[in-house]
Amino acid sequence: MRQLKLGVMISGSGTNLQALIDACSQSDYPAQISVVIANRPNAKGLKRAKEAGIDAVCIDHTGYDDRASFEDAIHDCLKEHEVELVCLAGFMRILNAEFVNRWKDRMINIHPSLLPSYKGLHTHARAIEDGVRFGGCTIHFVRPEMDNGPILMQTVVPIAAGETEESLAAKILFYEHQMYPAAVRLIAEGKVRVSGNKVVYSDTDLGTKGMISPLV
Ligand code: GRF
Repeated sequence: MRQLKLGVMISGSGTNLQALIDACSQSDYPAQISVVIANRPNAKGLKRAKEAGIDAVCIDHTGYDDRASFEDAIHDCLKEHEVELVCLAGFMRILNAEFVNRWKDRMINIHPSLLPSYKGLHTHARAIEDGVRFGGCTIHFVRPEMDNGPILMQTVVPIAAGETEESLAAKILFYEHQMYPAAVRLIAEGKVRVSGNKVVYSDTDLGTKGMISPLV
């Protein structure tokens, strides 16, 4: 079985990375992680990668004069590991358009809201503050504008009365961990492609694959 080579980029805890590590450890999973890159030396995800025997590289942004040279180092590392798909999983640095365009339609991100609502930080607190009834998470192909790009998969999560930022974050994170391996599988199996600003599924029977919802 051909396995798509992934490069996972993180900044912190790496629970989504862990979900991908666990998926990749299954013999029938069509992807493998070639390298994990963190921009912070103390990112817990680096330890997760090392424990799984995966190359774990710290490219510390504070060691570079500017964003372009930092991103060149990341790009070189991804190329060195023959990465075919970049998975941003809690990578907390803005990426320049030049870097994003080098990986156009070959880089995805997970964001803890139902995009295009609630881009940026503190998504859960803002959703609760606004009194919206649903939150969720999104996996999308990356474009130069932050938290923007063709949507591959979304999960909708109800916001209960009395919900706190922490309780909502935990609920959503549970679904992030289901969604990331499922999204990578769809790409690895060639079942999706990007057409303009949208993701198109190769087979109409896959129409509901882009939705994971505890409601259905
Ligand atoms: C997740 O909530 C993800 O949606 C966001 O950053 C967080 C990363 O969490 N982009 P983890 O490092 O995977 O635990």
